[in-house]
Amino acid sequence: MSTDEQLAKRALAVRKNAYNRYSGFSVGAALLDNKGNVYAGCNVENASYPQGSCAETGAIAAMIAGGGGTIKTIVVAGGSGEVSTCTPCGGCRQRIAEFADAETRILVLNDEKSWQSYSIAELLPASFRLG
Ligand code: THU
Repeated sequence: MSTDEQLAKRALAVRKNAYNRYSGFSVGAALLDNKGNVYAGCNVENASYPQGSCAETGAIAAMIAGGGGTIKTIVVAGGSGEVSTCTPCGGCRQRIAEFADAETRILVLNDEKSWQSYSIAELLPASFRLG
């Protein structure tokens, strides 16, 4: 199994843990960092809706807590019921950009077995940078 397939499997597995009682929409994300470590996250909703967090946000927070610095590949698996295309939301594009470089690949699953690959420049052109 390729590294991409392993990451996709991890994203699909963590997606099952999504806490999504308000939207019913399940998202899992798994990333490979610059140190070769894999981190995963799922969406965690809240009765006070804006307090919820996205799957990508959870995976990135775990990477930083684990001492990683750069995302090499991040896989996103989302959808209501079956997996369907779920490109990262605007806020998560900005969060990914913070820890991405030109080689970072964002793989968005179309279904359980296939995906589309994007660079951060494709998902967030002319992104905001501080300083
Ligand atoms: N969601 C994510 O986890 N990642 C995204 O990139 C898009 C949206 C979550 C947030 C919320 O819990 C649910 O999907 C519906 O918006």
